[in-house]
Amino acid sequence: MEPAQKLIETQYKSNHLLEAIQSALRKAGKDPGNLQPADLTPVDAFHIRGRQATIELADLASLKPGTQLLDVGCRLGGSARYLASEYQCDVTGVDLISEYVDTAKVLTRQVGLDHLAKFQQVNALSLPFEDEFFDVVWTEHAQMNIADKHGFYGEIARVLKPQGRLLFHDIFQGNGGPIYFPVPWADDETVNFLITPESAKDVLESSKFSILHWAYKSRASLDWFEAMLEKLKSSGPPLLGTHLLIGGAESAEVKLYNQIRNIRENRMVIIQGLAEKR
Ligand SMILES: C[S@@+](CC[C@H](N)C(=O)[O-])C[C@H]1O[C@@H](n2cnc3c(N)ncnc32)[C@H](O)[C@@H]1O
Repeated sequence: MEPAQKLIETQYKSNHLLEAIQSALRKAGKDPGNLQPADLTPVDAFHIRGRQATIELADLASLKPGTQLLDVGCRLGGSARYLASEYQCDVTGVDLISEYVDTAKVLTRQVGLDHLAKFQQVNALSLPFEDEFFDVVWTEHAQMNIADKHGFYGEIARVLKPQGRLLFHDIFQGNGGPIYFPVPWADDETVNFLITPESAKDVLESSKFSILHWAYKSRASLDWFEAMLEKLKSSGPPLLGTHLLIGGAESAEVKLYNQIRNIRENRMVIIQGLAEKR
C-alpha cells in the first residue's frame, strides 16, 4: 500500500463498520432485511448539510435515466444510491478504502439498487476508466485529502465526455488562518490539503473546465452545524449517525466544535459548484 493511502486509511479507520451500522439500524427500529435508501441517510451522507446538499447539487444538472455518473470518493455510497434511486442514473462510486467499497456494495444490495449503483476500490489519481466515458462526475469532500489537485481534476476531466459536467460540493481554505484540528477528514495536517477557492478555480480552468456555477455555502453550513450541536446537547448522540464513521461520539463532538470554529473564523469555506469540460 502506498504511504498516502496508508495515512488516509489510518485517518478514516473504523471498527467493523458494516456490523456497527447494521446494529445501529436495528436499535433505531429498522430491519436491515427490509430497508429503503432513505433509512441510511443519517449514516451514509458523510458531508456537510447531509442529504439536503446532495439534493441541491443534483438539481444543478440535468440528470436523467441512464446518465453515466461517477462519484469520486463515494465512501459508503449514500449519494450514489440517491442518484440511482431518484434519477435512475447509472452510477459508479469509487473510493480509496476497500472497507468502504465493500460496505457500500452490501448496503446497496440491501436497498435493491445494485443494478444501478456499482462500486470499485480505486485511487482518484488513477481512474481505471476510458477517456470520455462519463456524462457527469460528482464529488463531495474528497479532494481535501488529496495533495495533487492537478492530478485529481485532470483525471476527472479525462474520463468526462466533452461538455460533460463536474458537480462538486467541497471544502476550501478560508483567509482566516489555518484550520483547527481534528476535523472529520484530518486529525492533523498530514492528510489535510485544503487550497483556497482562488487556487481551486485556477486548477479547474487549467484542467479544461469552465465554471458555470460557484456558490458559497458557509453560512448554511454553519447553521446546520449549530443545529446539530443544539440537538446533541439536548438529546445526546443519535443511535444512527456519522459519529459511527469518525471514531465515536466523543471524537465526533470535538470535530463538530472545530468545524463550527473553522467556519465562524473563516478558516474554511464551503462551495457548491458546477463546471463543464471544454
Ligand atoms: C469525507 S469522505 C466523503 C464521502 C462521500 N463523498 C460522502 O459525501 O458521503 C472522503 C472520502 O474520500 C476518500 N478518498 C480520499 N482520498 C482518496 C483518493 N485518493 N481516491 C479515492 N478516494 C479517496 C476517502 O477514503 C473517504 O471515503
